[in-house]
Amino acid sequence: MSAPLLSVRGVRVAFGGVKAADGVDLDVNAGEFLAIIGPNGSGKTTFINLATGYVKPQAGTIRLEGRDITSARPRDVTKLGIARAFQIPQLFTEHTVLENLMLAVAANQGFWRWQSPLGSPAVREAAMDLLTTVGLADMVGASSNALNEGARKLTDIALALALKPRLLLLDEPTAGVSTDEKFPLMDRLAAVLRERGVTAVFVEHDMDLVRRYADRVVVWNQGRVVADGAPDAVLTDPAVLRDVVGVL
Ligand SMILES: Nc1ncnc2c1ncn2[C@@H]1O[C@H](COP(=O)(O)OP(=O)(O)O)[C@@H](O)[C@H]1O
Ligand SMILES: [Mg+2]
Repeated sequence: MSAPLLSVRGVRVAFGGVKAADGVDLDVNAGEFLAIIGPNGSGKTTFINLATGYVKPQAGTIRLEGRDITSARPRDVTKLGIARAFQIPQLFTEHTVLENLMLAVAANQGFWRWQSPLGSPAVREAAMDLLTTVGLADMVGASSNALNEGARKLTDIALALALKPRLLLLDEPTAGVSTDEKFPLMDRLAAVLRERGVTAVFVEHDMDLVRRYADRVVVWNQGRVVADGAPDAVLTDPAVLRDVVGVL
């Protein structure tokens, strides 16, 4: 078997007295769509912050395809191929959806400030390609503040894909999205990941979405991974139902 894409071993982080990661061991395998579930405050977002370099562990190691990235800065982690969606907190509301994507593509290509990325046909083509991939080809001319929440999330995912990640981390991608829009959003996301060969981890509270989309589920509780396996097995485990699903 090949090495895992991401390998986390013995990772610990405490904020004051709170153990947000209390000896986390987890592998993410290439090509999988892995769900993380767990109560509020159990350390799910901290895990994403650790994997992207925003939080440094007090103990343990984090490896990307065997390469130690435990101390790498967020910018370098991104360059090595780990991106998070919703990393760019706000769209530039004075720009259209297409222009927002063009700015992200250009930033990733290291455009000089005095060049105008919005005038570059190559940047435009790459941005159009990403928007088509996430199903927003019809929205390119829309003002970014006119988008509904589902379309906004898809735009955010396209922005993250502009970084050309191998591993994409999504912290509650369906939060704030209406019930009707959740399944179409996840359908599109899953299709995009498959098409681009991107491995992904998503934090999710809706067990119907986890059951439908995850290849594997890991369960967080009090800074630890307490269960790990196929959705059918994990989501019927009595301890998981009692301690985690029951309190979500
Ligand atoms: N930067 C931080 N400073 C202080 N406490 C933090 C910080 N980040 C997370 N925590 C604490 O660590 C625990 C885990 O938080 P978090 O990873 O956000 O949980 P989750 O995403 O599972 O809700 C919580 O008690 C939270 O308050
Ligand atoms: Mg969180």
